[in-house]
Amino acid sequence: MSKKIILATLVAVPFLTSTIPAHADGAYRAKAIAVIKNDFQPRGQADLDRLAEDGVHAICNRTGNTPPEGIAKVLEADQLAEVKYPADGKLMGDWKAGEKLAQSGRGFTWSDKPGLPVGGNCYNCHQISPKEKSFGTIGPSLYQFGKLRGNTAEIQKYVYSKIYNAKAFNLCSEMPRFGRVGALGEKQIKDLVALLLDPESPVNK
Ligand code: HEC
Repeated sequence: MSKKIILATLVAVPFLTSTIPAHADGAYRAKAIAVIKNDFQPRGQADLDRLAEDGVHAICNRTGNTPPEGIAKVLEADQLAEVKYPADGKLMGDWKAGEKLAQSGRGFTWSDKPGLPVGGNCYNCHQISPKEKSFGTIGPSLYQFGKLRGNTAEIQKYVYSKIYNAKAFNLCSEMPRFGRVGALGEKQIKDLVALLLDPESPVNK
């Protein structure tokens, strides 16, 4: 569990800026970010670029996660257009490897070896396999996901894309953009798709 907490903290760092109230602009925001930058020291791969906002963070942070719907739709489409799909066209891998990744919160700390694979940390926010009793509830339960939603090409593409970039479907999603930020590669995302959709996965038993 402690490993999960380590990555959860890191994943949460970019969202520290989102805890600054939406109306707090200009000088106040700059002051708050200066305090954060002062408190977090760069070390190894754990650099302060993790505090940087991109355009999506900027609009979500400044609107209290409720950007105008028309703008959110356009930006979601931009995020979706960036998703890179596997060249072999296969979106499902090995659910057993997916379960290990979902369990692991290891990676991206200064003392971790840089490079993939890092953990997916999924249980921190989701119920998934019924065997794991320790899970967070920030996200919805994914237990029986494939049983309930099916295993069609369309649903496989949705799950692959959602893991690659959750903000492509919900602009101010709290779920990390695993593929986009390079936390999970093609193989890892395929294995997680299998964890959720493979009829043999304990998720769907
Ligand atoms: C920091 C919390 C967090 C983490 C970590 C996280 N998620 Fe999520 N996830 C969410 C939230 C919140 C939602 C629902 C809101 C949304 O769609 O963005 C969600 C939604 C989803 C959905 C869509 C569910 C649906 O009904 O369509 C899938 C699939 C999913 N997550 C898979 C994963 C997988 C796989 C992992 C691990 C690689 C993961 N999530 C890690 C927070 C998280």
